[in-house]
Amino acid sequence: MRARLFSTFRALSHENPLGLPGRRLPPIAPKPGQGLPPSGSIPAMGRSIPVARSIPGVQKIIVVSSAKGGVGKSTVSVNLALALSSAGKRVGLLDADIFGPSVPRLMNLSGEPRLSESGKLVPMVNYGLKSMSMGYLVDTEKPVVWRGLMVMKALQQLMWDVEWGVWMSWFLICRPEPEIRSAVVVSTPQDIALIDAVKGVNMFKKVDVPILGMVQNMSVFTCPNCSHTTHIFGSEGVARECKKHSIELLGDVPLDATICSDADVGKPTVVARDGPLSDAYHKIAGAVIKKLWG
Ligand SMILES: Nc1ncnc2c1ncn2[C@@H]1O[C@H](COP(=O)(O)OP(=O)(O)OP(=O)(O)O)[C@@H](O)[C@H]1O
Ligand SMILES: [Mg+2]
Ligand SMILES: [Zn+2]
Repeated sequence: MRARLFSTFRALSHENPLGLPGRRLPPIAPKPGQGLPPSGSIPAMGRSIPVARSIPGVQKIIVVSSAKGGVGKSTVSVNLALALSSAGKRVGLLDADIFGPSVPRLMNLSGEPRLSESGKLVPMVNYGLKSMSMGYLVDTEKPVVWRGLMVMKALQQLMWDVEWGVWMSWFLICRPEPEIRSAVVVSTPQDIALIDAVKGVNMFKKVDVPILGMVQNMSVFTCPNCSHTTHIFGSEGVARECKKHSIELLGDVPLDATICSDADVGKPTVVARDGPLSDAYHKIAGAVIKKLWG
C-alpha cells in the first residue's frame, strides 16, 4: 500500500488516536435541550462519551443504524446520501464504522485526506459527495485493536476535526453516538434481523432520538430469468414492526445482484444507473426530505 501523506509523522495516542496535528479542543457541553440527554438515560456504552458540541455549519444529522451487521447499512447510507445530494440537499457522509469501514470502497476513494491549514482533515469527494472514513486514515488490511475510549475519541476526531464546510445534513453510519438528531433504521424483513432492529428502535426512543423511519432492505428478489418474485427474507416484517411501533416505513430496497456489483466496483447504484433500483433509494430520500425539510 502506498505510504500515506502524514502517517509517517502521525503520533498516535489515546487522546489523539488519529494523530492529527495541533491542539484538539475538548467537546463543549451542549446548551440545555441540545446534545445528549442526562447520563441516567444513556445506555451503558454511551456513559463514557463526553457531551457533544455542535458541528459548525451542520444543521441536521441522521444516523443510519441497524443494530445488526450485514443488513445493508453502508449501502443504504451511501445511496441515500447520493440520492439526497441529487435532490439538491447538501449532504456529507461520515463512515463511523471504526472496525470495518466500507465507504472508501463504496465511493471508490483511497489515499489519505489532506490536512487544511488549521490542521483539520479535508473530506474526500467523489460523485459530488464529501465523505470521511476511518478507512482513509488507517491501513484497512491491518486490524484496529482499539477499544472503548479510544474508539470514542477516534469517532470524535472524525466528526469535529474534519472541515466539513457548510453542509445541511450529515450521516453517521452505524453507531448511535454524540450529536445524533434523528435516525434511520435499516433491516431485512427476517425475524432474526428484526429482533435487533427493534432493540435499536427502543434504544433511540429511550435516549429521545427521533426515528425518521425504517428501510426494508432485501425485501424481494426478482428472478432475472423468469421474473418470478421470491421473498427470501420474508416480505412484510419491517412494515409490521413499523406499524407496531408507529414508525414510518421509508421504503423498500429489493434484493438485487446489481446493487451488490455496483457496490463492489465503487459506483453506488444511485449514480451507476437509472431505473427501479435507484428509484427505490430516491423514494427513501424523498421520504427523508419530507420529514426533515417539510
Ligand atoms: N438490496 C441489496 N441487494 C443486494 N445486495 C445488497 C443489498 N443491500 C446490500 N447488499 C449487499 O449486502 C452486503 C452487506 O451490505 P452492507 O455492507 O451495506 O451492510 P452493513 O449493514 O453496512 O454491514 P456491516 O455491518 O458489515 O457494516 C454487501 O455485500 C452489499 O453489497
Ligand atoms: Mg457497513
Ligand atoms: Zn426464475
